[in-house]
Amino acid sequence: MTLLAVDGLEMRFGERLIQTGISFTIEKGAIFAIMGGSGCGKSTLLKHLVGLLPPASGSVTYNGVDYWAADDTERNRLRAGFGMLFQSAALWSSMTILENVCLPMEQHMPQLDEAQREARAHEMLEWVGLGKFADFYPADLSGGMKKRAGLARAIAIEPPLLFLDEPSAGLDPISSKRLDDLVLELRHRTGAAVVFVSHELPSLFAIADDGIFLDADSKHPIGHGSPKHLLETTEHPTVRAFLNREEPPADAQTDAQSPPGAAPTAASTDTATPA
Ligand SMILES: Nc1ncnc2c1ncn2[C@@H]1O[C@H](COP(=O)(O)OP(=O)(O)O)[C@@H](O)[C@H]1O
Ligand SMILES: [Mg+2]
Repeated sequence: MTLLAVDGLEMRFGERLIQTGISFTIEKGAIFAIMGGSGCGKSTLLKHLVGLLPPASGSVTYNGVDYWAADDTERNRLRAGFGMLFQSAALWSSMTILENVCLPMEQHMPQLDEAQREARAHEMLEWVGLGKFADFYPADLSGGMKKRAGLARAIAIEPPLLFLDEPSAGLDPISSKRLDDLVLELRHRTGAAVVFVSHELPSLFAIADDGIFLDADSKHPIGHGSPKHLLETTEHPTVRAFLNREEPPADAQTDAQSPPGAAPTAASTDTATPA
């Protein structure tokens, strides 16, 4: 069953073209990776997929409903099915972890009262291993713990579609593996489809079963398929370099200064706030 279909998407900021010619579909239960060097438009694509940015052209369709052709009521209904973990985790710093996890439920699960929301938030925090930290503020958590708190918040509403922007960037290998396991377990438990941006090769190979590779140079996708399939079949030196963690080819003029896996640049740092 196709949950999400992207057809002929072009993304721009004003006159500036970011990517064009993006088409793919995401099936129920898929784990779909958005790959590419820094600054190629991965976070921008994710924002198009969650309805935060309108396409310059093309369409983004959920269960057959074209998001930008729909009316406000329909869009709100669609948005209630998205869970999102932003690149920066984007927790509200003035709220405890528990309050952060409760917030989307207030908006998207009106059938629950406050006590039920809190019970559910505690359950989610247990699940990501933060049961003892419910009353902590984001500033008191490590990077990995913030990401897990962000994941708990994103999944609290049981979204059929979960979007994760560099969930394991900057985490140690054990925290990173733990996050991967949580994503796999979530898919197993709820059948959610997961769309994630990652530079982490172990994560990409371990959990993604489909994906797209964006090129900053040509500004269109240069690979489509699982990381494993791409590595085995690609003829494109940039894709091969990324997946083999080699030096990029000398003629690949991306605006990416940093190699795959490097810390996000200022340009790729996320400033959006949670919905
Ligand atoms: N709000 C914005 N306004 C203008 N340009 C932007 C905005 N957000 C990102 N960009 C630019 O779009 C390009 C793609 O950014 P981004 O999607 O964050 O890249 P990635 O996530 O692949 O590192 C970059 O060159 C970035 O500077
Ligand atoms: Mg990014």
